[in-house]
Formats: sequence, structure tokens, C-alpha cells
Amino acid sequence: TRVAAGRGRLTELHIHNRHARAVVALQGAQLLSFQPHGEPDWLYLSPNAVFAPGRPVRGGVPVCWPWFGPDPQGLGRPAHGFARQSPWVLRHALDEGDGCTLLELELTDDAATRALWPHRFRLRLEIRVGDTLALALTTRNLGDTHLTLTQALHSYFALDRIEGARVHGLDGLGFIDQVPGANPQGAPAPGPLTFAGRLDRIYPNAPTRLQLEGAAGGGRLTLDSEGSRSAVVWNPGAELAAGMADLGPGEHSRFVCVETANAGDDVVTLAPGAEHRLALAIARTTEPSHRSP
Ligand code: BG6
Repeated sequence: TRVAAGRGRLTELHIHNRHARAVVALQGAQLLSFQPHGEPDWLYLSPNAVFAPGRPVRGGVPVCWPWFGPDPQGLGRPAHGFARQSPWVLRHALDEGDGCTLLELELTDDAATRALWPHRFRLRLEIRVGDTLALALTTRNLGDTHLTLTQALHSYFALDRIEGARVHGLDGLGFIDQVPGANPQGAPAPGPLTFAGRLDRIYPNAPTRLQLEGAAGGGRLTLDSEGSRSAVVWNPGAELAAGMADLGPGEHSRFVCVETANAGDDVVTLAPGAEHRLALAIARTTEPSHRSP
């Protein structure tokens, strides 16, 4: 693991082990790239992403914390919380016996975080880089009152093309439709989820296993979560992507966000001293399973 001057004055960690290469920005503890040897990147990073201190980076796995979506109190604080644009510290980088690398990054409260959110906390992200990828985000309440939060591991998965993408595991489930103007109570539909335009949904009762078909490199990515009841699926569609400075025309076709979350009414409440762990493990299934979940 090498610490390197990254793009746009951000510091990056470059991991290269027996299994894979990965890049993590210290800002936001944001995984920007995960590439097992001989495979394309599993993660999408926009060619128009902005790399600058204090600005969210479009792609990889941003950590949305301690709120998911717009400021829940309408106070004009940043969308998706402040963790993704805060400077984290690297606690450990361990080479494990099996050739995997385990990184542990940490964000704790300081004057800047308390100005936005008046709580004492320790937030840790573990990233395990092997021939599979595992992420675990643990929040500990260091204060003496209860705290509540929503959050997401906002994974951007690289696709060959959006028309080929299918999310399995959400068949027949109700969802909250977040597309402006849509009925917020989305009607459940049979079959895998496909994409034909802008889609922005919170599934409040998602299963712990989802599969993404159509990921760059073929086969399926299996997503196993812990500590989460909700999943978020987002693709901006052609028109919105074309108008976003850090995406651009055609970029909607190259990714889908399938997010392991505590969002909607899946709110985490932590007593003083308590902690919560939100985890995601991702593996590629090269032979698509016949027993699709
Ligand atoms: C998704 C949300 O998780 O993130 C969308 O469901 C949002 O509503 C998207 O547009 C991107 O958010 P941002 O703040 O990174 O542009």
C-alpha cells in the first residue's frame, strides 16, 4: 500500500496485491477503483469527476453519512451528509496472510463536524481488497445522548451499457420513488429491475443478497449486505446525466448505483457507547446462477 499525491490535491492510497489493484482517496475514505487482475474495474468513476478538497467525487463508493439524501432538517447542509467530503485518516493498512489487504480509515468529530451535526462519534471504514471486495462502516456513539442517522455505501458499478443491466432480488417489492413528480409509493413489479430512463428508488425491505447482471466484465456481481434493511437504486437517465457537469452526455449508460443503506424509515438509533455496522461484500459470479434470487 502506497500513499500517493492524488488528482486535484487529494491524497490517494494505492493498493496492489496478489489479487487486485485498488485506489482509495483519503477524502471521504472513498474507494475510487477496484480491479482484480485480468478484469475491468468493478467501479465506475466519471471521466468528468471533480477532484478537489471539500467536493464530492462522482463515482467509486462515496460514504453517505450521517444522513442519506437531502438535509433532513432543511438547514442547507450538504446532501448525503458530510463524511464523503471530509478528510479521514488511515489507521491501518495490513497485508493479510492470504494476500488480501485490509485498510482501516477513520473519521472522528471535530469543530467542523460538530458545527454541522452536534454529536461525538467515531466512524470507521474497513476496506478489504482481495479477489472480492468487502466494506464495513461502523459508527460508534461517543456522546452521552442517543443519536439517529441514515447512511449508505453509495456504490457506482461499471456497466457495459445500461440497457443490459438487471438488478435481481427486488422483484415484487414496494419502493419509495424519489423521481420528482412520480407517485412516491412505487408499484411493485415482477421480474428483475431494468432501466429505461431516470430511476431513483429506496427499497425499504430489501433482501440481504442482490445481484447485478450486466456489470462490466460479464457475469453477475453478488452483493451481500449486513446491518441494512434498505437498498437504493439510482440511474440519472440520459437527460439528467447530460446536464450534470461531473457526468456528461452518455455517461448514464456506463453505471448504476446499487446502494447498501439505512435509508427511508430504516433509521439507525445508537444509545451512548453503542455502535452499528453496515457491511457490503461483493463477489463476481462468472456463471450466472440458474436459481436467480
Ligand atoms: C442517490 C439518490 O443515492 O444519489 C439520488 O437516490 C441522488 O436522489 C444521487 O441524485 C446522487 O446524489 P449526489 O448528491 O451525489 O449528486
